[in-house]
Amino acid sequence: FGEPLLAGRRVLVSAGPTYEDIDPVRFIGNRSSGKMGFAVAEAAAQAGAEVTLVAGPVGLATPAGVARRIDVRSAAQMHAAVLAAAAQADIYIGAAAVGDYRPQEVSAQKLKKRDGSELVLHLAENPDILASLSAQTAHPFLVGFAAETHDVASYAQGKLRHKGLDMIAANQVGGGLGFESADNALTLYWADGAAELPRTSKAELARQLVARVAERYRTARG
Ligand code: C5P
Repeated sequence: FGEPLLAGRRVLVSAGPTYEDIDPVRFIGNRSSGKMGFAVAEAAAQAGAEVTLVAGPVGLATPAGVARRIDVRSAAQMHAAVLAAAAQADIYIGAAAVGDYRPQEVSAQKLKKRDGSELVLHLAENPDILASLSAQTAHPFLVGFAAETHDVASYAQGKLRHKGLDMIAANQVGGGLGFESADNALTLYWADGAAELPRTSKAELARQLVARVAERYRTARG
């Protein structure tokens, strides 16, 4: 018993996919359901944190105890919403599957089929939200996710360093785990340690992740 793990802490969570519009009826998206991020937001609230949830386009109800929810659609909107809210956050957990690219131009009118000829879409790179935060002198404790199909450990540890993160939660996508599934399994990495969180429900995994984040946060920031 005693104090909840994250009492008095402000936790910002991003969740879900982003949609990058091509024209008024089409977009480039990804298969993130938002379930993991929403479970993380709920677990952080259960741990006593004041939680702000920035959500991409998902069909999920706001979890119990979440103080505020900001709905966004594109990576640019998510970037702006997270950066604006980060000044009031002690911990940022980036669970969103942010689109890496967006169409360079969004057509105001529905694109028409071009009989027989190919259609070329030019894509521009989106800014990295986590990297933008870690480049700021004062920033929250940063937790990222890495969904990988192969070489999970080396890609995750690379992202931990390159994006300047305090912790990364890596999961293998495929084999009934990861996107769109109810279960997941994670390996956590930080600068001088790692922890395995074996396969279980996303809700239980989120509670274990939040407990580890609280522990590392206390060690790093007091
Ligand atoms: O490099 P990759 O996209 O695999 O890294 C995933 C992590 O980086 C996630 O935590 C995701 O929320 C974050 N990310 C971000 N901004 C982007 C792309 C990914 O913050 N533009």
